[in-house]
Amino acid sequence: MSPASSEWQPWPAVNGLHLEVGRRLTRGPLVDELELRLDERFECQVVATSSGTAALEAILTAIGLPNVERPVVAVPSYGFHAAALAARRSGADVITVPVSAELEYTMEPDALHEETEVAVVVAIDQAGAPANYRALAPMCSSAHVPLVEDAAGAWGTWLDDRRLGTYGVAAALSMSESKVVAAGEGGCVVTRDASLADEVRAAIRYGERSHGALRRADIVGANWKMPELTAAVALHQLGYLEQRLAAARNAAYRLEMALEECEHLHAPRDIDGADVTWHKYRVRHDGDPLSMRALALQCKVDLLEDEFVPIPQQPAFADAWHAMESPVAQTFVVGSRAEPLWHVRPETLKRWCDGLRQLDERSHECR
Ligand SMILES: Cc1ncc(COP(=O)(O)O)c(C=O)c1O
Repeated sequence: MSPASSEWQPWPAVNGLHLEVGRRLTRGPLVDELELRLDERFECQVVATSSGTAALEAILTAIGLPNVERPVVAVPSYGFHAAALAARRSGADVITVPVSAELEYTMEPDALHEETEVAVVVAIDQAGAPANYRALAPMCSSAHVPLVEDAAGAWGTWLDDRRLGTYGVAAALSMSESKVVAAGEGGCVVTRDASLADEVRAAIRYGERSHGALRRADIVGANWKMPELTAAVALHQLGYLEQRLAAARNAAYRLEMALEECEHLHAPRDIDGADVTWHKYRVRHDGDPLSMRALALQCKVDLLEDEFVPIPQQPAFADAWHAMESPVAQTFVVGSRAEPLWHVRPETLKRWCDGLRQLDERSHECR
């Protein structure tokens, strides 16, 4: 039996942070504090969400797709498919734009020129590497097409003295399990546009703009709010962010040094003007993918196996897209391996560096 008391019992403290003692574990002070800390980091308005995918969907809802029969959202043909999912769930068709190897497998801006019907462009920052905003931002702005940044894993990268997440009209970041701020699930919307931020807030709260106590759905939103429990974990994680970014940078540097000695294995490319903190580090090879995979395991280079299927090959979107040819996306998926870097232990890193040298020496076996 519950105690016969009108007093609320305290919620447990999570990581030393005290959850609001009261009727709810949502819309409380920890989410507010997290948003404030992130506002300061990005020098933008930040709205916490239940996931990075929810952040993308909330942005598209807040922007509002044009009221035409089949609005079109452009996404790159390679990258995690959350942006395409968000576009489809917002009622849009998807155009997949080719990616470029020189641009570290991000969207090729020149290919966008050919498309006239695009309502929104969602660029994906590839594993921490920036999309080509130097070209995309002016192009979208002069065409009056909102540019959205899927910066899910790009917590530590700068381009031309600006943090990723601050290009375009809004950006989505993720706090899912592999991200540098890992809160289990969670995400946020970053934007410099105060009225867009207000509309995102409405989108994540059942479509309700603020009317005091009056609950009125003004737009077709959803429940994409971040709970207090998630904010408690995210705030704790945020305390380690710089340390983790430094660990990821150090690991990337060590891998790059090892790869410099290799003939058949390649590090990710440098991107002009960018200070990249790799979220995942891709080692490319030019051998037969399947035998390279087996050989890599023999050499104890056990970089992550699960790789993105190029978006044009995702069955879920088959009836609702127009895919531009992107052979690069296909070669990339089979010819690279990737692993989140911020939590790699020193002994694992050493094993990989030694293993990469060995793999390179033996890669003639995979031709
Ligand atoms: C590029 C990219 N976009 C979007 C997402 C979706 O984020 P979430 O898992 O928080 O929904 C992820 C990853 O998980 C991602 O890597």
